[in-house]
Amino acid sequence: MLAKTPPMGWNSWNTFGEEISEELICRTADILVEQGYRAAGYEYLVIDDCWSLRERSEQGLLVPDPAKFPHGMKAVADYVHQKGLKFGMYSCAGVRTCAGYPSSFDHEFVDARTFAQWGVDFLKYDFCNFPQNGDCRMRYHTMSMALKASGREILYSACNWGQQEPWRWMRSIGAHMYRSTGDIMDNFRSFTDIAKSQIGNLCMSAPGGFNDLDMLTVGMYGKGNVSLGAPCTFEEYRMQFSLWCLFGVPLMMGCDLRTLSGECRALLQSEALIAIDQDEECRPPYLVRCGGVTLPNPDAKPGEYPWRSEDECTYTFIRHLSKGEFVLAFFNLSEHETRLSCLLSDIGLPYPSGIGIVPRDVFTGERLGVKRDEFSVRVPGHDCRLYRCRLSRCDG
Ligand code: GAL
Repeated sequence: MLAKTPPMGWNSWNTFGEEISEELICRTADILVEQGYRAAGYEYLVIDDCWSLRERSEQGLLVPDPAKFPHGMKAVADYVHQKGLKFGMYSCAGVRTCAGYPSSFDHEFVDARTFAQWGVDFLKYDFCNFPQNGDCRMRYHTMSMALKASGREILYSACNWGQQEPWRWMRSIGAHMYRSTGDIMDNFRSFTDIAKSQIGNLCMSAPGGFNDLDMLTVGMYGKGNVSLGAPCTFEEYRMQFSLWCLFGVPLMMGCDLRTLSGECRALLQSEALIAIDQDEECRPPYLVRCGGVTLPNPDAKPGEYPWRSEDECTYTFIRHLSKGEFVLAFFNLSEHETRLSCLLSDIGLPYPSGIGIVPRDVFTGERLGVKRDEFSVRVPGHDCRLYRCRLSRCDG
């Protein structure tokens, strides 16, 4: 079965855009293996837009740009496969890709066959330049069928940016993952907006079809193709990766693996976070509480209320995992340190049950003692804390 759990891999777009080549892809394949990414679960190496010539061949086929891929795509696929990885490529449901290259509108079956012949295992399918009178759902369905008819098992990564509520139908037409928002940018506002917008749709994700919140920007630090405004700090990248893992969505890295910092590499390979993302039960998180913070207001004039509040910037989630465990996750989107608290009665553990929780810090591995009644943590601004918990009977 494809996409039994959220797919994991690397995609060229965020950092490289048009600047892709056989050399870059093969080097990235080497690093995925040599530096432990494949062992951590990252499996798909995906070439995004800008890989082909500007026109089809006389036979109507897509042609890799020989300046970028001098040995053709089969050779790249072979290299990637030899490394024990899977190979992904990109096309688009419109008449041209977003960067203006030929794409698969009315060529779905011939293109899917081409991809299959090259040894492609994953197709990202974009939505630019789609005819105004075209039928989006039907065209995504057509490519789904074309992939099935191609003679090769190919994971279908549909990318229509959330048009027509794809969480309601992409799974039904055979997509294994579906982009539910516009493009991610490498800043705090972008990834938190994306995450907030999808909280209510995650219950539609399940084995075989997952809501895709876009490629990660973790580790980009403003370099590359999707930089806009201030790039993230390490703690913000850790929040992004934690949200994606808690939400059980695909983990497609988008940074330059050749120059990634050790700190971000360790984050992207975190066993404890990846285990949450990949939990076999694939349950969505449950929002326990969304709240604000109350802060002293230094600008208050004498006689005015000396406090001010910010709404909807703290989030507490529980996510149930297999084997009776669960995660409690606290996100502080405000800029100020604040105390986030979870009453255990709000997660189905009223005091008289005599049951408490035993939390383990997902970032540090530290085990905390049994908590009963309430569990609260102080979380710095733009940071988060996650605890993997099990239940425990409390004496007395
Ligand atoms: C966008 C898509 C991006 C990237 C880009 C390539 O539509 O959302 O993820 O694929 O096109 O041009």
